[in-house]
Amino acid sequence: MGSKEQHNCVSQRKILVFIVLGFLPIALFRLCFNNSFSAIVDTSLQDSASHVVITNYSSSSSQEEEAQESFDRVKEEALCDYTKGKWVRDEIGPLYNGSSCGTIKDGQNCFRHGRPDSGYLYWKWKPNQCDIPRFDANRFLDLMRDKHLAFVGDSMARNQLESLICLLSTVSSPDLVYRNGEDNKFRKWRFESHNVTVSVYWSPFLVAGLEKSGKLDHNILHLDRVDEKWGNDLERIDTVVVSVGHWFLHPAVYYESGSVLGCHSCEASNCTEIGFFDVFRKAIRTTLKAVAGKRREVILTTFSPSHFEGRPWDSLDACNMTEPYGEGKVLEGLDLEMRRIEMEEFAAAKAAVEAGVRLEALDVTAISVLRPDGHPGPYMYGDPFKNGVPERVHNDCLHWCLPGPVDTWNEIMIEMLRR
Ligand SMILES: *[C@@H]1O[C@H](CO)[C@@H](O)[C@H](O)[C@H]1NC(C)=O
Ligand SMILES: *[C@@H]1O[C@H](CO)[C@@H](O)[C@H](O)[C@H]1NC(C)=O
Ligand SMILES: *[C@@H]1O[C@H](CO)[C@@H](O)[C@H](O)[C@H]1NC(C)=O
Ligand SMILES: *[C@@H]1O[C@H](CO)[C@@H](O)[C@H](O)[C@H]1NC(C)=O
Ligand SMILES: *[C@@H]1O[C@H](CO)[C@@H](O)[C@H](O)[C@H]1NC(C)=O
Repeated sequence: MGSKEQHNCVSQRKILVFIVLGFLPIALFRLCFNNSFSAIVDTSLQDSASHVVITNYSSSSSQEEEAQESFDRVKEEALCDYTKGKWVRDEIGPLYNGSSCGTIKDGQNCFRHGRPDSGYLYWKWKPNQCDIPRFDANRFLDLMRDKHLAFVGDSMARNQLESLICLLSTVSSPDLVYRNGEDNKFRKWRFESHNVTVSVYWSPFLVAGLEKSGKLDHNILHLDRVDEKWGNDLERIDTVVVSVGHWFLHPAVYYESGSVLGCHSCEASNCTEIGFFDVFRKAIRTTLKAVAGKRREVILTTFSPSHFEGRPWDSLDACNMTEPYGEGKVLEGLDLEMRRIEMEEFAAAKAAVEAGVRLEALDVTAISVLRPDGHPGPYMYGDPFKNGVPERVHNDCLHWCLPGPVDTWNEIMIEMLRR
């Protein structure tokens, strides 16, 4: 028992370090920069890249219905911008729960950790011009038959992957065939029923580099080449989902073609502060160039917004909302800027893409900014209030509870892949 407590203590300390190193800069960043950004109005949400054809179909499929379906599809072609809409009440609720799916990272298993409200599970995204069908796991596995689908990126990529694994597990049980790295950073599953491989690669910058660690107090990024941890496997990946962003806010030194380009938040060294927006752009550009080199499907999941909203990360109300935002909440600040960079690079890459490569943006930033209720908050730990309500509590207002809003990302993704 003693050793278990010690273990808990060590891992809690690790998480605490993570929070301080990981969240604090974000919170500070938001505090410092939000004001100067709030004047930026969002005009970029209108780009055509975010349009997806979402067909209204019923999931049982007789031939007649399939014919009707393809007719509907033609009819609705290019009509539905799924990024415009609202979250509406949904009686049915998620396909899985925190006890039926075993693949949910503890910190995101809000149900297991005692989150008392469940209203946040009963919403669905309703685009203005169409409906998003409920996730159909068999259909997804059929689409991916004989293929290897890889998620590449940071913990948001993992969040989306874990949602997908839970959704697919409702019809076919996956075999975990590979696991490596602390915190499940590299994993691979096989769905033998459909000869589908799904994997996840930890690569928070996408490009080559080193993450800060005990010895290194900043990240090192090489902006001109992709991280070989996933780059070396690219030939064997048919569909790749990339998702990054938040790690770019940390202190870092940037290299291009072997020489220092500049740095960010690097008081100790004497190189030039260049911020991280242009660096983020370069990393996305390098990545899209690399992945679009061969017949393949590429999906860029856009920046996932957090909801500290300028409040301290350890305050009781850091993200304690229990319902989505309604109208009037727009993209601004960091969320707006990071998404804009991604959409611009996506559009440029798409214009230059080779035949046979399919490039899609899974534009979830605006959808997700409306879901302050979807984060673990204090339930990143089990039963945070079992000894009463403390003055300060650690909050995760960045990742998403599973089940939760990320399931909708995957519902939209299947519609993109079906096209
Ligand atoms: C599908 O479209 C029909 C008519 O076009 C509509 O009546 C029905 O409600 C739609 N179904 C869904 C699930 O959106
Ligand atoms: C979770 O889902 C399983 C399988 O659908 C179901 O049997 C169980 O009752 C659910 N648990 C909760 C707490 O909803
Ligand atoms: C499974 O998919 C791979 C391609 O990813 C293919 O080479 C192999 O033949 C497939 N196996 C079966 C049993 O269909
Ligand atoms: C600072 O810059 C100078 C001149 O570029 C260089 O010689 C020196 O090594 C640098 N110092 C550090 C700590 O990087
Ligand atoms: C959020 O926290 C604040 C401060 O503790 C509290 O006043 C408010 O009622 C909380 N809201 C919800 C929905 O729990």
